[in-house]
Amino acid sequence: MKKIIIYEEKVKRELGDLFGLFFEDLNHAADGGMYAELVQNRSFEFCSMDNPEYNGFTAWEKSQNINWEIRENNGLNEENKHYLHVDGKEKEWISNNGFNNGIYMKCGENYILSFWGRTEAKEAKINIELSENADDHRKVCAETEFVIKGRKWEKYEAVIEANITICKGQLKIILQKEESLDLDMVSLFPKDTFCGRKNGMRKDIAEALCEMNPKFLRFPGGCLTHTGSLDGNARDSMYRWKKTLGPVEKRPARKNTWGYNQTLGIGYYEYFLFCEDIGAKPIPVLPGGFNPHTGEGVPISELGDWVQEVLDLIEFANGDLNTKWGSIRADLGHPQPFGMEYIAIGNEEIGEGFFERYSYFHKAIRKKYPKIKIINSAGPFSTGEGYNMGWKSAKKNGSDFIDEHYYSSPEWFLANMHHYEDYDASGTKVFLGEYASWGNTYYNALVEAAYMTHLERSAAVGLACYAPLLCNIDYVNWKPNMIWFDNCRILKTANYYVQQLFMKYQGTEELVFDTEGLNEILPLIEREWLDGEITITGNDTSGIISNIKIDEEGQKRKEVEGFFLEADQREYILTKTKSKHVIVEFNFSRREGRKGIKVTFGKKDKNNYLQWEFGGWDNWDSNIISVENGKSSVISHRIFHVENIPYTLKIDIDGYRIRTWINREMFNDTKYRLPELEELYISASSNRESGEKILKVVNLTGEEKKVQIYLQKDRYFDMPTSKRLGKINIVSLKGHGLTDENTFDNPDKIVPVEEIIEESDRKMEYVFEPHSFYVLIFEGNKREH
Ligand code: AHR
Repeated sequence: MKKIIIYEEKVKRELGDLFGLFFEDLNHAADGGMYAELVQNRSFEFCSMDNPEYNGFTAWEKSQNINWEIRENNGLNEENKHYLHVDGKEKEWISNNGFNNGIYMKCGENYILSFWGRTEAKEAKINIELSENADDHRKVCAETEFVIKGRKWEKYEAVIEANITICKGQLKIILQKEESLDLDMVSLFPKDTFCGRKNGMRKDIAEALCEMNPKFLRFPGGCLTHTGSLDGNARDSMYRWKKTLGPVEKRPARKNTWGYNQTLGIGYYEYFLFCEDIGAKPIPVLPGGFNPHTGEGVPISELGDWVQEVLDLIEFANGDLNTKWGSIRADLGHPQPFGMEYIAIGNEEIGEGFFERYSYFHKAIRKKYPKIKIINSAGPFSTGEGYNMGWKSAKKNGSDFIDEHYYSSPEWFLANMHHYEDYDASGTKVFLGEYASWGNTYYNALVEAAYMTHLERSAAVGLACYAPLLCNIDYVNWKPNMIWFDNCRILKTANYYVQQLFMKYQGTEELVFDTEGLNEILPLIEREWLDGEITITGNDTSGIISNIKIDEEGQKRKEVEGFFLEADQREYILTKTKSKHVIVEFNFSRREGRKGIKVTFGKKDKNNYLQWEFGGWDNWDSNIISVENGKSSVISHRIFHVENIPYTLKIDIDGYRIRTWINREMFNDTKYRLPELEELYISASSNRESGEKILKVVNLTGEEKKVQIYLQKDRYFDMPTSKRLGKINIVSLKGHGLTDENTFDNPDKIVPVEEIIEESDRKMEYVFEPHSFYVLIFEGNKREH
């Protein structure tokens, strides 16, 4: 019989703030997403630096005979100086299309309509209409009139009620007579934002996050924080928190690294408030004065300002009213400190330049705020040179956490379930700040659930969050994402529900458990070694491949004629091998292009292979990747930049071991791990406050598993001491095909189901269905001992 025995009094570790969320304004997650503003380009600041297709009129239209102009002289304020000047006759109009297909307004809801205006004339009368084009007419949802007076900028505001629902609406400003006026910050907000905050969050999205019960929120982003200019006043600067405070009309427009404009409407103050509203601890990520994409770093002599900026943020979050930044927070409306406990310096930084600078931040924070937990950065992969550099720096400096990121195939996760088992849990802890298994299918979600049971069980892991979180379906920068949305609907993926169940039912402490009869391991890919085609492809690069020599175990050396490699992604087949051990050596000279080449090996078909990326990503890497079912994972990483010089390259594939040499120096050395399935993936915890015991079980196999579950005091008691199990709440995801996904047409296809059972015995027998994830919550405090 298969058994799971949970030891109620055998606590392994505190689970702390283990599971939380990561928010980044990519995929229009903030602007056009969770930030409830319905007008796009409200302050006419869009420009081609944000996106080559943008200009000051983006998202705006006009009637034929109206004159308009983007102006900047004597603007509303210094940081945000562009505005719209309009001249026209009665009935001429301008209109804003919002995001997606237009503005969504719901019948019966109230909206705050506002703008800043001025006129040279005595007055200017305008009508603002929220409407949408129906088949042959215009449906008006709400309208109101304003009279603009005076040469000085004034704010005009009205609350309007939507009389009908519109989904593809426009905000239309119609002149009431011949007029000339200036407009800026044209804004439309639902009144009913999340927690009723002004300048707040879109309710359905924010509620979906709140309902997850996250322990923390990492923000304001990943690449978004550290990409850009070191000049804090530049439009494309790194994310500098001080620029995001104060009246929204004074916040500068920012180039968002994901190819759009960032209003900074959600700034640091709003992030802190949001954390408070959803009960999550804030984890801000600040740039470390180093851009890993360009290798550019602020001179050490000028680093003091950057370090001070971090100290000021801590003061802003936690300082009392006598401090400068504490009193600024109070003036903004929050006299109570936010109680920030964590701070992260850097995101995916690679390069000594970052680690040299990190130490300065670390020392200063430790000295002034010894209780703040400091998070270092381990680069974008689960392994390799950047990863090791990060860990070395974390150990040297005594970082409390190190931020790890990896996006890998489900097969990688299945091969690496025990990734953190051997990690030392006594020093720096892992913050798995970004991870996902490249998909929103039920299978992806189940694999992530299995991996999360191991995150719960790994003492070295202190914090973990899935990424990315949000995506507007019309502005996709990255796939997959946890929640998709358009202007009026949201779609929670199967991955969302897995994350939610882990957060909602995160215990306060991990419990020890034993299993019996659950030790079978099932191989997922049957493969003796990495046989198959070996090919070369130019990675947007052309060049000469020559002197190709192939040595296969037990065979005569094969020499292949060289060739000119076109930069057109054509694959040049060198050989097809059945051998366990094969060595390929050749020369490569780049002629044109910025990157290098890809050597594919162990190729079974176009979706299943391994690859040496020589000059991969942005010509930063010599990586080995594995690809299963079209999804890739980095399994070895070295930093390397390809130049226009001759190289001697060698790859040695011996069984599952892969080694590479560049100019006779060994570079990559790694082993491909085959994915396998464990019979069940299990974790156990208890909730100190409620006394509940929580068992999580993932069955990734295609067979049901009948298991006896025991709760007993400790491992060394012969007899279980619990007399009855009592009420058990069981929440599960089950009964779906592995390729199933939630869609906007069928958003509730994969949702948790709940059942409650009473068990009067000291053990229970339960059948875990094939392809399923269960959370069993045993009620607290009622156990007879
Ligand atoms: O989550 C998307 C991006 O992935 C993040 O910005 C970055 O940190 C990582 O590369």
